[in-house]
Amino acid sequence: MTTTTLQDRIQLSLARIQQRAPGCAPRLGLVLGSGWDGIAELVDGAIDIAYAELPAFPGLGVAGHAGTLRLGQIGGRAVALLRGRQPAYETGDAAGMKGAVRTLAALGCSSLLLTNAAGSLEPHMPPGSLMLISDHLNIVQRTPLHDEPGASRFIDMSAAYDANLRDQAAAAAEAAGIELHEGVYAWVLGPQFETPAEIRMLRAMGAQAVGMSTVPETILARHAGLKVLGLSMLTNLGAGMAPQTLSHAHTLHTAQATAALAARLLAAIVPALDV
Ligand code: HPA
Repeated sequence: MTTTTLQDRIQLSLARIQQRAPGCAPRLGLVLGSGWDGIAELVDGAIDIAYAELPAFPGLGVAGHAGTLRLGQIGGRAVALLRGRQPAYETGDAAGMKGAVRTLAALGCSSLLLTNAAGSLEPHMPPGSLMLISDHLNIVQRTPLHDEPGASRFIDMSAAYDANLRDQAAAAAEAAGIELHEGVYAWVLGPQFETPAEIRMLRAMGAQAVGMSTVPETILARHAGLKVLGLSMLTNLGAGMAPQTLSHAHTLHTAQATAALAARLLAAIVPALDV
């Protein structure tokens, strides 16, 4: 058996993409989380490549995630959609998306738009609301960069979510008549939901949303030199904030009910970004 390095697997993935979609040159990558996949239907000239064909891309566990790279255009802008991610709760490893993010960077992407489903920590952001991520709290205190050599891993995170992209996204949402909140996203490992005490802690710490993904990808993207834009779909109020029990089925149900709005938001934002 031959062992390949991550760098080898990225090069193999790049070659496979260039073979299947010659000349494709996306500047923007999107990672589509729960509820956000509807935009995939709005891609012109779509070319699909299964993650299984791309050795740097992750194997996937959660049902409902396609595990497909879709290349094409949205509103005339060349994009690369990652339909499915590998969150750290699947493997205990925060670096599951390292190869995929680096392949996008090698493909020429300058920016990465990360999407997720999250719990709301604010009563004025009810289930079905959408939120622009202004910053994050890495509650898990894990990193996908621990094995990076030397000084390159000490990346600055003081402007993790690009201010210009945020302004452009907010303006595009407003022009489309879509309400877009803004707030801090707290990353918890999961897969269990939080306790009410944990939700009170997160609110006291200054978070407006809580979820189980995205932050490792933001770190990877910043390390790879990509600008980041983050969007959350709030599928529920945090544990203890409403008389409810939380479940993955409930999350997916709200995500499906909000999918058309999320697709409309992305269709408005993607062409408006200066990437
Ligand atoms: N907590 C963590 N992750 C989530 C939630 C939640 O309440 N809802 C959707 N993803």
